[in-house]
Amino acid sequence: PVLVVDYGAQYAQLIARRVREADSYSEVVPASSTVAELLERDPAAIILSGGPASVYAEGAPLVEADLFEAGVPVLGICYGFQAMAKALGGDVARTGLREYGGTDAALEPVEETAEGPSSVLLDGQPTTQSVWMSHGDAVRSAPPGFTVTASTPGAPVAAFEDHARRLYGVQWHPEVKHSTFGQQVIENFLRGADVPADWTTAGVIEEQVERIRAQVGDARVVCGLSGGVDSAVAAALVHRAVGDQLTCVFVDHGLLRAGEAEQVERDYVEATGIDLVVVDAEETFLGALAGLTDPEEKRKAIGREFIRAFEGAAADLVAKAGEEGAEVRFLVQGTLYPDVVESGGALHGGTSSTATIKSHHNVGGLPDDLQFELVEPLRTLFKDEVRAVGAELGLPEAMVWRQPFPGPGLGIRIIGEVTRERLETLRTADAVVREELTEAGLDRSIWQCPVVLLADVRSVGVQGDGRTYGHPVVLRPVSSDDAMTADWSRLPYDLLARISTRVTNEVDGVNRVVLDVTSKPPGTIEWE
Ligand code: XMP
Repeated sequence: PVLVVDYGAQYAQLIARRVREADSYSEVVPASSTVAELLERDPAAIILSGGPASVYAEGAPLVEADLFEAGVPVLGICYGFQAMAKALGGDVARTGLREYGGTDAALEPVEETAEGPSSVLLDGQPTTQSVWMSHGDAVRSAPPGFTVTASTPGAPVAAFEDHARRLYGVQWHPEVKHSTFGQQVIENFLRGADVPADWTTAGVIEEQVERIRAQVGDARVVCGLSGGVDSAVAAALVHRAVGDQLTCVFVDHGLLRAGEAEQVERDYVEATGIDLVVVDAEETFLGALAGLTDPEEKRKAIGREFIRAFEGAAADLVAKAGEEGAEVRFLVQGTLYPDVVESGGALHGGTSSTATIKSHHNVGGLPDDLQFELVEPLRTLFKDEVRAVGAELGLPEAMVWRQPFPGPGLGIRIIGEVTRERLETLRTADAVVREELTEAGLDRSIWQCPVVLLADVRSVGVQGDGRTYGHPVVLRPVSSDDAMTADWSRLPYDLLARISTRVTNEVDGVNRVVLDVTSKPPGTIEWE
């Protein structure tokens, strides 16, 4: 693999993604990894990420000079660049500034030298280009053996390279999209380092199928489908590997949007041939939600009922398998690589963890503890890779490209008590909004657009000849990269007008459409 050493501040994951976009496999490893630990992984190349620290700060993660003597190509980025300079005897000027935001700078490549091409990293790129740079310490002189290959007005040593040892460093962030030729810098490094470009979707599928077969053997497997892309792709992979040993459970809690349950029940099953058990739990969920208005209480009730419904179905499967002399031993989870990195987990060492789904008193005939081993076929993948795998496995487009939708569904988009009638109102309004956004071609450019029903608010309106006293719905279109922060999407006025006209005409009980123009923070994306 290409190992990306994580010096913090979320750059490492982005770098790992860019490496994969360049068709090479990458993994993020913690800054605390020793040189021996890094080399044990037999890396094709190593990238040292940016990070918020100053190399002069107390306790700042430093790079041991041994790393550069192992014959492994290394690219240092920003903090990694400075740490590299310091370790190899360059001069890093202390500015006392930490990294704050970034600025665009024009890169000025340094003259070609007599020894050959002046730059591996910048090969084939325009002599001046825009790069995203953050303020921190600055490298004042390159270590011995290195050539300075780029500079900016603020950073005279903005890149250095030692072609013989295949060691490289850049002060700017090639992994962010603001750096116009950033992806090319990363590709130039990888290809210059002879890292194979062999990370393909077909290869991922093949490898995972083999792993799943090895892990599962003849045992049976259960998987909960949520309607979202992760669980759908995870299940499809497991099905590709072990076929009918897999049974999927879909809990229809009645809080889904129009057409979603059908999408899972019909389109997904048709595309995959998966054995699906649908639990129709709408009544149960509505019963549990009756009288609740507090967001946390609603969420808790939905979560509780969900586990209950799922484990009931799982217990039935376990019992049925038992009668047939088989054993349900595994549970599929759609865990993605960012979750693994963020929870500090490692991909290697340790095979699988065990999830215990506790039983409840009200489910008859259930064993005290249902214990499953986890199958997590997406554990090494980023979201865009999961989508590519899903598409290659032939899943319906609408499922592969589905925007995020919260587990508690429409239950947290009705402000007030959730009732069947209110769900119907919101479902109709939501369907109109989604139809118009799709029609306008915006599905892939906006992150998501919750539609919220203010069920306890009424306002006076006039429609036809009469006075109305109806409810408002809120449009919450947002743009985001990861849902941690978001901005409200500037939808075209004509589109908003069309949505407003259609929703007030077509949805009984709704006489007003309002637009939420709050970013996150301070507002969350969902209203509850
Ligand atoms: P917030 O409202 O916290 O939402 O800004 C961030 C993102 O997470 C989604 N979301 C959820 N997803 N279960 C989920 O699977 C949940 O309980 C949940 N709550 C919020 C939300 O749609 C947005 O994409």
